[in-house]
Formats: sequence, C-alpha cells, structure tokens
Amino acid sequence: MTRSLPLIVLALALAAPAAADPLDEPHLDIVPRTPAEAARIAAATAAPESFDAAQPFEARPGGAATVRATSDANAFSLPSANLGYEGELRFKVGNGLFRKIWVSAPASTLASDGLGPLYNARSCQRCHLKDGRGHPPEGPEDGAVSMFLRVSIPGGPEDARAEIEGYLASRPEPTYGTQLQDFALPGHAAEYRLAVTYEEMEVALAGGEVATLRKPTYTAADLGYGPLHPDAMLSPRVAPQMIGMGLLEAIPAADILAAADPDDADGDGISGRPNIVWSVEFDQPMLGRFGHKAGNPTIREQTGSAFVGDIGISNPLFPAGSGECTDLQADCLAAVHGDGDVREFEIDAEGLDLVTFYSQNLGVPARRDVDDPEVLWGKELFHGAGCASCHRPAHVTHRLGNRPEHSFQLIWPYTDLLLHDMGEGLADDRPEARANGREWRTAPLWGIGLTQQVSGHTYFLHDGRARSLLEAILWHGGEAQEARDTVVEMPPEDRAALIRFLESL
Ligand code: HEC
Ligand code: HEC
Repeated sequence: MTRSLPLIVLALALAAPAAADPLDEPHLDIVPRTPAEAARIAAATAAPESFDAAQPFEARPGGAATVRATSDANAFSLPSANLGYEGELRFKVGNGLFRKIWVSAPASTLASDGLGPLYNARSCQRCHLKDGRGHPPEGPEDGAVSMFLRVSIPGGPEDARAEIEGYLASRPEPTYGTQLQDFALPGHAAEYRLAVTYEEMEVALAGGEVATLRKPTYTAADLGYGPLHPDAMLSPRVAPQMIGMGLLEAIPAADILAAADPDDADGDGISGRPNIVWSVEFDQPMLGRFGHKAGNPTIREQTGSAFVGDIGISNPLFPAGSGECTDLQADCLAAVHGDGDVREFEIDAEGLDLVTFYSQNLGVPARRDVDDPEVLWGKELFHGAGCASCHRPAHVTHRLGNRPEHSFQLIWPYTDLLLHDMGEGLADDRPEARANGREWRTAPLWGIGLTQQVSGHTYFLHDGRARSLLEAILWHGGEAQEARDTVVEMPPEDRAALIRFLESL
C-alpha cells in the first residue's frame, strides 16, 4: 500500500491540468527568437540617444505593413502593404462583412439576417466609422452613435476566477447583461438611451493660456426593462480606431510583461500591470490586449464578442442567437433568430475569420514630417516629460509561421499595452478582469494625427470627452500626473511642439 502512494500522487499530478500560464499565446504560430535576434531587437527598440534626426525606420510605424498616408478620409482603410494578392482578396471580402448591414430574421436575404433583438448598431462599420474612432453624442437629439455603456454589478466569491490572480469578481447586471443596447427590433423595447451632460472646468497653463475641459456625467435614460440594479456600475466606451491590430496582437506577451512594474520597483511613479483575462476561444487565462481596459485577448475573440454584443449576431465563439438578452428578457429570448434550421450560427466560422482577418490588417499609415525640427523637438519633449514610459514607442513582433504580414516587424505603436492608474478624473469605477476602476490600457498613439482627416473630429480618450490632443493630455492623472503637470508648466511654444509631434504620428 504505502509503496504505491507516490505513484498515485504522480498519476494525479499528471492528470491535473497544468497551471495556466498567461504567457501562453495559442493564437500565434511562434518561431522562437535566437539570442542574436534578441540583442538586435533590444538595440532597435532602445530609447533614442539623440533628437537631432529621425530614428531609422520610425517613419514606417507598421514596419513592412505600413501604408502610404493618403490625404483623404480613407487613410485608415487600406490593407497592410505586405499582404500579397490572395491576402488582399481576403481583406476585401472581410471588408464586405465589416460593412454589411444586418437585418432581422427571418428575411429573404438569409445570409444577412439575425440582427438583435437588442443591438447597438447594424454593422461594425457603423461604430468604427471609416475604420477610425467613434465619438460621443453631439447633442441631446443624437443617439449613442458610436459608443455604448458597459454595465455590471460587483460579484461574490462564486464569480471569482481562481486561475487568475487578482481577478476582480463582477457579474452581469441581472436584467441588462454586460452592455446596454440602445436599439431593438420592432416589438421589443430598446434598453436605454445614452444621456450625457458636461460640466466645464478651466485649467490655467504656463504662459497665460487657459484650456477648458468638459467633465462628463453619463445616465442610462429611458430604461426599457425597469430600473438598473442599485449597485450597477456603468463604463462608457467609444469605438477605437482599427489600424495595426494584427501587429499589436503579435507583440510577444513576454515583452509586454517584462515592461510591467506592478509595485513600481524602479520608483519612477509609473507601475503598469498586465490585464489577464479569461479567453472564451482557448478556455484559459491569457494576456488582455484589446479594448480600453485590455479586456480581450485576441482579435478573433474581440470580433466574436462584438458580433454578439453590439449587433446580436451569433457566431462559433458566442453562440447565442438572442445576442445579449438575459433570462429576465423573455420576449427577447423567444424571438425568431437567424440561426437554427439552415445556418448553425448567424455568422459562421468562415465569416468570423474573414472579419478577423480584415480587422488584423488595416494598415498603419506612414508618418509625416519625421525630420521636421519642430517635430523632433516635440519628440524630445515627449520623452523628457515621461510620456514614453507608458506610450512605449517601439516593439518587434514575433516571428510567425502562419502570419508573414505580421511577422518580425519593427513597429511604433506608442503603447505598452499595460494598465495604468489614470486618477479619479478618468475613473469609471468599474472593474474588468484584473483592471480596477481607475485603470486604463495605454492607448496606442500611431495614426492619431490623422483623426480629424479620417473621422472629421478630434474627440479623444475612452469616452471621447477630450476635444483635442491637449485636452487629452490634461485629463491624465494618477501615474501620469507628473507628465501632465510637466505639460501644464511648459512654455507655450514647447506645448505646441509636443502637439506637433503627436500630429506627425
Ligand atoms: C456599437 C458600436 C460598435 C460596434 C457595432 C462594433 N464595435 Fe468594435 N468596439 C467598440 C467599442 C466601444 C470598443 C472598445 C471596447 C472596450 O473597451 O471593451 C471596440 C473595440 C474593438 C476592437 C479592439 C480595438 C482596440 O483598440 O483594442 C476591435 C478589433 C473591434 N472593436 C472590432 C469590431 C468588429 C469586427 C465589429 C463588428 C463585428 C465591431 N467592432 C463592432 C464599438 C463597436
Ligand atoms: C502612466 C501612463 C501614461 C503616461 C505617463 C502618459 N499617458 Fe497618455 N495615455 C495613457 C492611458 C492609459 C491613456 C488612455 C486613457 C483613457 O482612454 O481614458 C492615454 C491616452 C492618451 C491620449 C489619447 C489617446 C486616444 O486614442 O484617445 C493621448 C493623446 C496621450 N495619452 C498622450 C500622452 C502624452 C503626450 C503624454 C506625456 C505628456 C502621456 N500621454 C503620458 C497612459 C499614459
């Protein structure tokens, strides 16, 4: 008996699933780096030594996938430059599905039905307008347009994820689910109308300028299914720009985690924590990369959750034909859906993959004026003010067997993909996986200078409250307070140079 005990223990140990490692990247077919490559990468991504001239390759922020910067509104809509003929064809078909307007079931156009019953928009393109960012409502008559409110209530021990250390338990709002939908099919009530009011605040800047910030308050008005749970937490989210997603997805998780400094061991006031999320696609914890709190691990999962949550379209990852309706929304559950008899899902795996491929391959435009003295001066100020501690300029993507267009590229996204405490002013007070109510993912800054051209506006930050790049900086608090204060105290011509640099991205 006693002799066989160790064997039993060994057998149990072999049968138990290995502790999941958030460094796992099952979505990528990785060719490991050689030590020589690692040394070259460290040199290529090191902080600039001089600001007298542009760094090698920084004019091409997407590496070989970089596209030319067109001067029209299509600047974010071109396919990665290195896709090849077959890839471009896939991109075009994916674009068709990204733009496709879904209709209610049953419809004669079977392949396009299944909308809702509750939805925020009838197509991906409706929110990611021109593949650029969305914006908050521009007046009381304007609907939610290209943003929505996420919603949840605090969870109990049973909502925790033992596999993820530091997971902040929450659960869907019992009636409304995890996201509020402001549209519904005929015969169904929409869940709400997004109402936002602003309070103006003045910020005095060195040199006599005064900036005005608008502090938003969001209300879920005209609730269609009764009051929200008293503990409901709301988080406003504007649709982000779509460029360079496949490259962000291909940054080695190990590189992102290596830059994390959760306890601020180096004492620079900036910590940076990875979000670790539960992947529905791979059924394991993974590093979160996408969404304003890095709540999604892969583009495919982000795409699947957008189909079901934003449009009400079931897919192999999120199979509910009823979309986001909850058990307490009985009519919504019982409605006719577009899946079942003919199609298993309202969009099948092939369609999901095509939209994923499209989303991965919107090219990053080339930079403008990298050699301009004012731009170089602004770049020096950007580094000097500490912006680059979070908006990490350069990364090198994995060498990938299956995705040559994203493989081993030197890219310049200006993000560390980590979470940072941005202070009370930007807090939504709603946790997401490990992200707390004050944390946000560092927003990538590539392409940001083309926002006006592509989107016809300059609303920035997760909820579009900032009306200019300067306002976006002035909202920075928490770990970024010092960087923000440095900008406030700059002479006006320095601030202008810093903005000029951002506009060249
Ligand atoms: C109702 C508006 C809306 C619709 C429709 C919509 N999105 Fe989004 N999208 C958003 C918002 C808001 C976010 C940020 C989500 C978050 O922070 O969790 C987002 C995030 C994303 C991201 C990640 C961006 C990043 O920077 O991390 C991708 C990729 C994406 N959406 C693709 C799609 C696709 C594909 C579709 C169609 C299936 C779609 N979206 C439909 C609003 C929308
Ligand atoms: C502590 C980390 C941190 C530092 C330091 C920091 N940022 Fe940010 N930045 C962020 C995060 C996180 C966001 C997203 C916040 C949000 O959406 O609410 C952001 C957003 C932005 C945006 C808006 C991006 C968008 O797509 O809407 C701009 C512009 C920006 N930062 C510029 C700067 C500049 C310039 C500096 C230096 C003066 C700086 N940041 C310093 C973390 C940082």
